[in-house]
Amino acid sequence: MTDKIILPEHVGIIMDGNGRWAKKRGLPRNSGHKKGAEVFENVSRYCRDIGIKYLTVYAFSTENWKRPKDEVEGIMNLMRGYLKNMANAKNEHIAVRFIGDRTPFDKDLLELMEEAENADVGEITTTVQIALNYGGRDEIVHSVREIAKKIASGEISPEDIDEETIAGNLYSKVPECDLIIRPSGEERLSNFLLWESAYSEFVFMDVLWPDFTKADFDFALEEYSKRNRRFGGV
Ligand code: FPP
Repeated sequence: MTDKIILPEHVGIIMDGNGRWAKKRGLPRNSGHKKGAEVFENVSRYCRDIGIKYLTVYAFSTENWKRPKDEVEGIMNLMRGYLKNMANAKNEHIAVRFIGDRTPFDKDLLELMEEAENADVGEITTTVQIALNYGGRDEIVHSVREIAKKIASGEISPEDIDEETIAGNLYSKVPECDLIIRPSGEERLSNFLLWESAYSEFVFMDVLWPDFTKADFDFALEEYSKRNRRFGGV
Protein backbone atom coordinates (compact mmCIF):
# COMPACT_ATOMS: atom_id res chain seq x y z
CA MET A 1 0.00 0.00 0.00
CA THR A 2 1.17 3.57 -0.66
CA ASP A 3 1.50 5.93 2.30
CA LYS A 4 -1.25 8.27 1.05
CA ILE A 5 -4.06 5.91 2.00
CA ILE A 6 -7.17 7.47 3.55
CA LEU A 7 -8.90 4.65 5.39
CA PRO A 8 -12.67 4.53 5.00
CA GLU A 9 -14.49 3.98 8.28
CA HIS A 10 -17.05 1.63 6.76
CA VAL A 11 -16.49 -0.65 3.75
CA GLY A 12 -19.28 -2.64 2.09
CA ILE A 13 -18.56 -5.61 -0.18
CA ILE A 14 -20.86 -7.38 -2.63
CA MET A 15 -19.21 -10.81 -2.67
CA ASP A 16 -20.02 -11.61 -6.30
CA GLY A 17 -18.67 -14.14 -8.79
CA ASN A 18 -18.62 -17.35 -6.76
CA GLY A 19 -20.75 -19.23 -9.30
CA ARG A 20 -18.62 -18.17 -12.27
CA TRP A 21 -15.43 -19.07 -10.38
CA ALA A 22 -16.76 -22.59 -9.79
CA LYS A 23 -18.05 -22.97 -13.36
CA LYS A 24 -14.66 -22.02 -14.81
CA ARG A 25 -13.20 -24.96 -12.86
CA GLY A 26 -15.99 -27.41 -13.64
CA LEU A 27 -16.96 -27.44 -9.95
CA PRO A 28 -20.41 -27.18 -8.31
CA ARG A 29 -21.53 -23.63 -7.47
CA ASN A 30 -21.30 -24.36 -3.76
CA SER A 31 -17.55 -24.86 -3.99
CA GLY A 32 -17.37 -21.25 -5.20
CA HIS A 33 -19.35 -20.15 -2.13
CA LYS A 34 -17.04 -22.23 0.09
CA LYS A 35 -13.96 -20.49 -1.30
CA GLY A 36 -15.86 -17.19 -1.07
CA ALA A 37 -16.51 -17.77 2.64
CA GLU A 38 -12.76 -18.36 3.22
CA VAL A 39 -11.96 -15.12 1.38
CA PHE A 40 -14.55 -13.34 3.54
CA GLU A 41 -12.76 -14.54 6.70
CA ASN A 42 -9.37 -13.42 5.35
CA VAL A 43 -10.74 -10.00 4.38
CA SER A 44 -12.37 -9.51 7.81
CA ARG A 45 -9.04 -10.23 9.50
CA TYR A 46 -7.26 -7.91 7.09
CA CYS A 47 -9.76 -5.13 7.92
CA ARG A 48 -9.02 -5.68 11.60
CA ASP A 49 -5.26 -5.66 11.00
CA ILE A 50 -5.28 -2.35 9.12
CA GLY A 51 -7.92 -0.71 11.33
CA ILE A 52 -11.13 -0.58 9.25
CA LYS A 53 -13.84 -0.13 11.86
CA TYR A 54 -16.86 -1.49 10.00
CA LEU A 55 -17.17 -4.06 7.22
CA THR A 56 -20.54 -5.07 5.77
CA VAL A 57 -20.71 -8.06 3.41
CA TYR A 58 -23.63 -9.14 1.25
CA ALA A 59 -23.94 -12.88 1.95
CA PHE A 60 -27.57 -13.62 1.01
CA SER A 61 -30.16 -11.28 -0.44
CA THR A 62 -33.94 -11.32 -0.09
CA GLU A 63 -33.93 -12.41 -3.76
CA ASN A 64 -31.48 -15.31 -3.31
CA TRP A 65 -34.25 -17.70 -2.12
CA LYS A 66 -35.01 -18.14 -5.84
CA ARG A 67 -31.80 -20.20 -6.22
CA PRO A 68 -31.86 -24.02 -6.25
CA LYS A 69 -32.59 -25.53 -2.82
CA ASP A 70 -29.17 -27.20 -2.52
CA GLU A 71 -27.41 -23.91 -3.22
CA VAL A 72 -29.46 -22.10 -0.55
CA GLU A 73 -28.78 -24.91 1.92
CA GLY A 74 -25.09 -24.86 0.99
CA ILE A 75 -24.79 -21.14 1.81
CA MET A 76 -26.69 -21.56 5.11
CA ASN A 77 -24.43 -24.51 6.05
CA LEU A 78 -21.33 -22.44 5.32
CA MET A 79 -22.79 -19.83 7.65
CA ARG A 80 -23.34 -22.49 10.33
CA GLY A 81 -19.72 -23.69 9.99
CA TYR A 82 -18.39 -20.15 10.24
CA LEU A 83 -20.53 -19.35 13.28
CA LYS A 84 -19.54 -22.55 15.08
CA ASN A 85 -15.89 -21.50 14.67
CA MET A 86 -16.77 -18.16 16.18
CA ALA A 87 -16.99 -19.97 19.50
CA ASN A 88 -13.15 -19.89 19.36
CA ALA A 89 -13.11 -16.23 18.41
CA LYS A 90 -12.01 -14.98 21.82
CA ASN A 91 -9.37 -12.29 21.27
CA GLU A 92 -10.03 -12.09 17.52
CA HIS A 93 -11.25 -8.52 18.16
CA ILE A 94 -13.85 -8.92 15.41
CA ALA A 95 -17.49 -8.48 16.43
CA VAL A 96 -20.13 -10.11 14.23
CA ARG A 97 -23.60 -8.64 13.70
CA PHE A 98 -26.33 -9.66 11.29
CA ILE A 99 -28.49 -7.33 9.26
CA GLY A 100 -31.61 -8.51 7.45
CA ASP A 101 -34.93 -10.18 8.16
CA ARG A 102 -34.35 -13.14 10.48
CA THR A 103 -37.90 -14.51 10.45
CA PRO A 104 -37.39 -17.33 7.89
CA PHE A 105 -34.28 -18.88 9.47
CA ASP A 106 -34.14 -22.28 11.19
CA LYS A 107 -34.00 -22.20 14.98
CA ASP A 108 -30.49 -23.69 15.16
CA LEU A 109 -29.12 -21.07 12.77
CA LEU A 110 -30.83 -18.28 14.71
CA GLU A 111 -29.24 -19.56 17.92
CA LEU A 112 -25.80 -19.65 16.29
CA MET A 113 -26.31 -16.11 15.00
CA GLU A 114 -27.23 -14.87 18.47
CA GLU A 115 -24.32 -16.72 20.10
CA ALA A 116 -21.91 -15.14 17.63
CA GLU A 117 -23.35 -11.69 18.25
CA ASN A 118 -22.93 -12.16 22.00
CA ALA A 119 -19.48 -13.81 21.82
CA ASP A 120 -16.65 -12.35 23.87
CA VAL A 121 -14.16 -11.27 21.20
CA GLY A 122 -12.02 -9.06 23.43
CA GLU A 123 -11.76 -5.37 22.68
CA ILE A 124 -13.56 -4.72 19.37
CA THR A 125 -11.37 -3.44 16.53
CA THR A 126 -13.69 -4.27 13.63
CA THR A 127 -17.42 -4.87 13.52
CA VAL A 128 -18.43 -7.14 10.66
CA GLN A 129 -22.04 -6.90 9.58
CA ILE A 130 -23.22 -9.92 7.60
CA ALA A 131 -26.19 -9.09 5.41
CA LEU A 132 -28.30 -12.25 5.45
CA ASN A 133 -31.78 -12.32 3.95
CA TYR A 134 -31.07 -8.66 3.43
CA GLY A 135 -32.51 -6.18 0.95
CA GLY A 136 -31.98 -2.43 1.02
CA ARG A 137 -35.65 -1.78 0.30
CA ASP A 138 -36.71 -4.30 2.93
CA GLU A 139 -34.44 -2.52 5.41
CA ILE A 140 -36.21 0.79 4.74
CA VAL A 141 -39.62 -0.93 5.07
CA HIS A 142 -38.43 -2.37 8.41
CA SER A 143 -37.40 1.10 9.59
CA VAL A 144 -40.75 2.60 8.59
CA ARG A 145 -42.60 -0.16 10.47
CA GLU A 146 -40.52 0.42 13.62
CA ILE A 147 -41.27 4.13 13.41
CA ALA A 148 -45.00 3.45 12.84
CA LYS A 149 -45.05 1.33 16.01
CA LYS A 150 -43.48 4.20 17.96
CA ILE A 151 -46.10 6.60 16.60
CA ALA A 152 -48.93 4.17 17.42
CA SER A 153 -47.69 3.88 21.01
CA GLY A 154 -47.41 7.67 21.32
CA GLU A 155 -43.61 7.53 21.79
CA ILE A 156 -43.05 9.95 18.90
CA SER A 157 -45.24 12.05 16.60
CA PRO A 158 -45.04 12.22 12.77
CA GLU A 159 -43.45 15.69 12.96
CA ASP A 160 -40.50 14.18 14.87
CA ILE A 161 -39.48 12.04 11.89
CA ASP A 162 -36.32 13.15 10.15
CA GLU A 163 -33.45 11.40 8.35
CA GLU A 164 -31.90 10.41 11.66
CA THR A 165 -35.12 8.68 12.70
CA ILE A 166 -35.08 6.58 9.53
CA ALA A 167 -31.34 5.84 9.83
CA GLY A 168 -31.72 4.95 13.50
CA ASN A 169 -34.33 2.28 12.82
CA LEU A 170 -32.51 0.43 10.03
CA TYR A 171 -31.13 -3.07 10.60
CA SER A 172 -27.62 -1.60 10.34
CA LYS A 173 -26.46 0.08 13.52
CA VAL A 174 -23.15 1.45 12.21
CA PRO A 175 -22.30 4.73 10.42
CA GLU A 176 -23.22 4.92 6.74
CA CYS A 177 -20.98 3.32 4.14
CA ASP A 178 -17.92 5.17 2.76
CA LEU A 179 -16.75 2.67 0.16
CA ILE A 180 -18.59 -0.10 -1.67
CA ILE A 181 -16.52 -2.71 -3.51
CA ARG A 182 -18.12 -4.98 -6.09
CA PRO A 183 -15.89 -7.57 -7.70
CA SER A 184 -16.82 -9.83 -10.65
CA GLY A 185 -17.28 -7.14 -13.30
CA GLU A 186 -20.92 -6.32 -12.50
CA GLU A 187 -21.57 -2.63 -11.94
CA ARG A 188 -24.76 -2.29 -9.93
CA LEU A 189 -25.88 -2.05 -6.31
CA SER A 190 -28.37 -4.97 -6.36
CA ASN A 191 -30.42 -3.67 -3.41
CA PHE A 192 -27.39 -3.47 -1.08
CA LEU A 193 -27.22 -0.69 1.57
CA LEU A 194 -29.60 1.64 -0.33
CA TRP A 195 -29.99 4.19 2.47
CA GLU A 196 -26.39 3.90 3.70
CA SER A 197 -24.81 4.34 0.24
CA ALA A 198 -26.12 7.87 -0.44
CA TYR A 199 -22.56 9.24 -0.41
CA SER A 200 -20.54 6.04 -0.89
CA GLU A 201 -17.67 5.79 -3.31
CA PHE A 202 -17.92 2.77 -5.62
CA VAL A 203 -15.06 0.59 -6.79
CA PHE A 204 -15.99 -2.07 -9.35
CA MET A 205 -13.38 -4.72 -10.06
CA ASP A 206 -13.02 -7.51 -12.60
CA VAL A 207 -11.71 -10.13 -10.16
CA LEU A 208 -14.14 -12.88 -9.05
CA TRP A 209 -14.76 -12.89 -5.28
CA PRO A 210 -13.09 -16.28 -4.59
CA ASP A 211 -9.90 -14.90 -6.22
CA PHE A 212 -10.04 -11.62 -4.28
CA THR A 213 -6.78 -10.92 -2.39
CA LYS A 214 -5.40 -8.39 0.09
CA ALA A 215 -3.75 -6.70 -2.93
CA ASP A 216 -7.22 -6.25 -4.48
CA PHE A 217 -8.48 -4.75 -1.24
CA ASP A 218 -5.45 -2.40 -1.20
CA PHE A 219 -6.22 -1.41 -4.79
CA ALA A 220 -9.78 -0.43 -3.76
CA LEU A 221 -8.41 1.58 -0.82
CA GLU A 222 -6.00 3.38 -3.14
CA GLU A 223 -8.88 4.23 -5.51
CA TYR A 224 -10.93 5.49 -2.57
CA SER A 225 -8.03 7.63 -1.37
CA LYS A 226 -7.85 9.35 -4.76
CA ARG A 227 -11.50 10.38 -4.73
CA ASN A 228 -12.49 13.82 -3.51
CA ARG A 229 -15.62 13.46 -1.41
CA ARG A 230 -17.58 16.72 -1.21
CA PHE A 231 -20.94 15.51 0.21
CA GLY A 232 -22.80 17.95 -2.07
CA GLY A 233 -20.57 20.89 -1.15
CA VAL A 234 -17.95 22.56 -3.37
C1 FPP B 1 -22.93 -14.07 -5.25
O1 FPP B 1 -22.18 -14.78 -6.24
C2 FPP B 1 -22.72 -14.70 -3.97
C3 FPP B 1 -23.72 -15.16 -3.14
C4 FPP B 1 -25.14 -15.05 -3.48
C5 FPP B 1 -23.41 -15.85 -1.87
C6 FPP B 1 -22.25 -15.25 -1.12
C7 FPP B 1 -21.98 -16.13 0.03
C8 FPP B 1 -20.75 -16.39 0.50
C9 FPP B 1 -19.49 -15.81 -0.02
C10 FPP B 1 -20.60 -17.32 1.65
C11 FPP B 1 -21.18 -16.69 2.87
C12 FPP B 1 -20.64 -17.29 4.06
C13 FPP B 1 -20.12 -16.60 5.07
C14 FPP B 1 -19.55 -17.34 6.20
C15 FPP B 1 -20.11 -15.11 5.12
P1 FPP B 1 -22.97 -15.60 -7.35
O2 FPP B 1 -23.25 -16.95 -6.83
O3 FPP B 1 -24.18 -14.83 -7.79
O4 FPP B 1 -21.88 -15.65 -8.48
P2 FPP B 1 -22.17 -15.67 -10.05
O5 FPP B 1 -22.76 -14.31 -10.38
O6 FPP B 1 -20.81 -15.86 -10.61
O7 FPP B 1 -23.10 -16.81 -10.34
